[in-house]
Formats: sequence, structure tokens, C-alpha cells
Amino acid sequence: MDAPTSTEATTELLKRLLEILDEENALDRTGSKPVLEFVYPEDLQIIVCILSVLNLHLKRYYEKFNLQRKLLPIELTDEPASKEEIETVIRQTIRYSVKTFSPHFHNQLYAGIDEYGLAGSWLTDVLNTSQYTYEVAPVFTMMEQQVIEQSLKLVGYPPLPEGDGILCPGGSLSNMYGMVMARYKMIPDVKRKGLAGLPQLVCFTSEAGHYSITKGAHWLGLGTDNVYKVKCDEFGRMRPDDLQAGIAEVKRQGHLPFFVNATCGTTVLCSFDPLPEIAAICREENLWLHVDACLGGTLLLSEKYRDRLKGIELSNSVAWNPHKMLGAPLQCSLFLIKGKNTLHEANCVGARYLFQQDKHYDVSWDTGDKSLQCGRKVDGAKLWLMWKARGTKGLCESVEVAMSAVEYIPPSMRTQEETQEWWDKLYEITAKVKGRMMLEGTLMVGYTPLSYCNLGNFFRMVVTCQPPPSNASMDYVIDKIEELAADFEGCQEFVVGVASDNRNSTPRSRPSQPGIRLRSYPPPLRWLHLNVLCLILERLRLKNCTMHERKDQNESNLGFCELPSSEEDN
Ligand SMILES: Cc1ncc(COP(=O)(O)O)c(C=O)c1O
Repeated sequence: MDAPTSTEATTELLKRLLEILDEENALDRTGSKPVLEFVYPEDLQIIVCILSVLNLHLKRYYEKFNLQRKLLPIELTDEPASKEEIETVIRQTIRYSVKTFSPHFHNQLYAGIDEYGLAGSWLTDVLNTSQYTYEVAPVFTMMEQQVIEQSLKLVGYPPLPEGDGILCPGGSLSNMYGMVMARYKMIPDVKRKGLAGLPQLVCFTSEAGHYSITKGAHWLGLGTDNVYKVKCDEFGRMRPDDLQAGIAEVKRQGHLPFFVNATCGTTVLCSFDPLPEIAAICREENLWLHVDACLGGTLLLSEKYRDRLKGIELSNSVAWNPHKMLGAPLQCSLFLIKGKNTLHEANCVGARYLFQQDKHYDVSWDTGDKSLQCGRKVDGAKLWLMWKARGTKGLCESVEVAMSAVEYIPPSMRTQEETQEWWDKLYEITAKVKGRMMLEGTLMVGYTPLSYCNLGNFFRMVVTCQPPPSNASMDYVIDKIEELAADFEGCQEFVVGVASDNRNSTPRSRPSQPGIRLRSYPPPLRWLHLNVLCLILERLRLKNCTMHERKDQNESNLGFCELPSSEEDN
């Protein structure tokens, strides 16, 4: 690869990049290649140090022992790198990076990307521009507006201009927009005068809510002590009674409640807060209701699942990350709001060098002053291209495929007493299994403890729309974890399995009698079932309180559950 100096050279460079991506299987979706080739950071550091002092002799020695594959010349130098060095470094970057395209990557709330989203991302990178004015982003302005328009419709907000929105660099920022808007709406003077002389402002989020609310409290000068963490029920949903008690307490102390963040799809359990009850409290108390639907908002695309977010239309603002479950390329996050011109009023500063009012076109198309940022990536275009290529129907279909996989239930009949020792051992083994899967590079599933539920480590299995999951990729997870855990000392004590008699005593799936249909795995018993997550999921499913519920069943999907209907959801 030569440093590009002409249009042809740029085109050649990009073509070569595409070839390398192909040769290195960077876009492989089959799962036949490792998800990662793990190298400890200290090894990469050592390699870098060695490289910087390496004389030729040492280098040959290094290569003789076949260590050169580890060479990652990360050091930036005065002299330009050669064409070969650049190719090598690109290949090494691919080699040591995590292949989120793999069907065995379940580690985060994002995964592979929709190919049209990827094409959109490359397109916007090539056309490198900023979203702030129509002048520099005519097409992208239209696309952003269309994406906002359709998203307002999904949420059930009024259309533009009564509803509005903006693409943000991530869900944390979208949530912070909600906080800023709430504060501005309650105290418009805060924009000019700041917080001086005001009572202490307090915001509310659940103990399962995302930490960006706490960060927002710090950044907005409220202080993290002024985030009231509302208690959750055993399924991770905000308790309206505790919210009400919290508001009363905060008022009693002379503070000023102003903002409630409810979550649709909490980060760990994907629980959905009861929006209608929370909205009623907010209405009564005159509080801004923001819904963090960064994860769960994608379910709005499916008629079958959108009732999980029932009541979202009652809120004042919403954050939704298509870059999570839906598979839009990072970053793609929407902030949506009710109220004409509110976003602009709250955020505009009117810089005349950029937002001149006497331009030769209708300057209402210059949307940049609604934003906190000046320059802003044209993220809406990526989602627009995906949406255009798939149609709402196609997006809905991919959500339903993902949801059918997430409902996978491995057998989990517990036959041993769950003593504290049993749990402690389980928590310890979870981390060890994770370490092994990383070193082997065959699977990536995240794990976490959950203090408010009093739980130690468990695997947080995430299923997204891209790449589309299958029964085989779900089976792979269980088989892999079982394999990785098989030789732990004493693991037999902790193995819990599915004895056929247990299966027989489980409620069977019949349309008229809700219950769980378990996959008939033979003994030896399945490790994933030791995993607390599965136990939680099972309980959640029985109580029918998360996104994992399914109302109708595909009989051919052995291993998927059928769930009871609940008054709350219907
Ligand atoms: C529920 C929820 N809200 C917000 C965020 C923050 O999103 P981002 O990572 O795009 O800032 C996350 C991230 O995982 C999340 O789970």
C-alpha cells in the first residue's frame, strides 16, 4: 500500500483494504474462525519494547522461534512506514481484534453489524462531513430527519415539529440530553444563570438503571449524591412505591425533584420498568419522565414485542440505541423528545459563523444548534440505509428472529441443595470459565455480579439481531461452556442437570396451560444451567416480566419456552 497521493491511489488503498479484510476473514459470519486471539497487554507491551530496541540479530532470533506473528509495531515513529509494514499492521490489527461479526460473540449489548449499516458507515466516512448544516450535509440532513420522523412514530410521539429528535454519540449522551431538557423545562433560567441560588436538584433512576445517569449528574453539576436510586423488585424493575416514597423524602428535605429515568431493557437483566405507573407518578408530581430504551427500544419495531414498552408514549423523552440490539454500526443513538422547538431553545447559542440567518436557503434545515456538539457525525444515514434496504418489515423480522433465540432455555432442573458454598463456588467458576473461553478464543459471553439482587458472577448472555442467531449458535454456547468447565476440580458437586423425571414434573407447554418446555438434553448435565442467569431467566419467564416473553410458539423450536400471559402485559 502506498501513501495515497491521487484519486486512483485512494481507490487502490480502499480496494486493497477490502481484499485484506476478506483474506483475513474479518467479515466471517460462519463462526468457524476464533472470535479472538487473546494476547495479554503486558505481552503486547513487551513486544513493543523489544521492537523498539531490537537489532537485526535479535529480530532474526525472534523470528526463528516463530514469534514474529506476535509483532505489533504499535510505536509511532518519525519515519513513514513502508507499504508492507502498513499491510502487516492492518492484518495484525484484524488478527488481535475481537471479531464481533462472529455468531459466538455475545459479550456486549452490540455485536455484528447489518451489512447495509456497514455500507452506510463507509459511505458516510468517504463523504466525511458534519451534520450541523444543510450547507455541508444536504442529503444527510434529510436522512436524519426521516429517521427521526419514523422513530417518533415508533415511540408514539407526535410527528415533527411537535416531536423532535437528534442523533447522539451514544446512549449515555442521549440520556444526558434527557436530563438537560428536564432541567431546562423546569427552570429555563438555568441556561443563562446556572445553578446558583437554586435548591438542590435531584433525579431518580432505578438501582438497575444505567450508570450514565450518575455520570450525567456529575457533568451537569448536580452531584452524584443527588441521584436517588429507586429500589427494584426481584426482577430488576423499578418499584413505583419506592419512587413515590423517594420523591416525598427528597421534598421533605427541601430539595427539588426534576427528572425520572425509567428503563426499558436494563443493562444486565433487560428488565422493563412499569411505565404506566411511573408516568402517573411523574404527571402527579410534575416531573419529567425520560425513558432509557437504549437496549429495549428495538422491540418497538415488532408488533409482537412492542407491548413490553407499553406507556413509553406517555414519557417526555426517550433514548434508543439502534447500535445495540438492532445491529446498526457504532455509534447510532437517538434522543427523541415531545415539544415543538424545545431542543433548539434549550441548546442553541446562535454562532453566526455557522448558523447565519441570511443564507440563500431555508435555514430551518440547519439543525446543528439543537445539539450539544458542533461537528457531529452523520450517524442517521447508517440507520437510514439499513431501514431503506430492509424496510420496517425486514427490521421487524430480524428482531423476531433474535427474540426467538433469546428465549432459548436450556434444561435447568436443580438436584442439589443451593448452599452458600454452592453459590460461591459457582461464582468463582463463572470467572474461570470466562478466562478459558477468552484464551481459547472460541466464544465471548460477558459475566457480571448483580449486587442489588445479591448475586455473584453469572454469564450475561446477549443476543442481537446481527449476526442473526440460530438454534445451532445457541447450542454452541451451552456446549462450549460445558466443555470449558468440564475439568474443574470438584465440579461434579456443582453440576446440575436434567433428570428425565424432573423434566416430567415441569409444566408442559400447551396453549391453554402456560409453562416451560425444556429441551431434552441427556445427562451429563449442562453447565450453563448452573449459571445464575438461567435461573433468573427461568423465574422471570415464569413471572412473565421481561422482554423474553413469547406469546405464541413455534412447536418445532424445542428448547424454547412458552410463557404465561400476565395481567400486567396484556
Ligand atoms: C440501558 C442502557 N442505557 C444506556 C447505555 C449507554 O449507551 P452507550 O454505550 O451508547 O453510551 C447502556 C450501555 O450499555 C445501557 O445498557
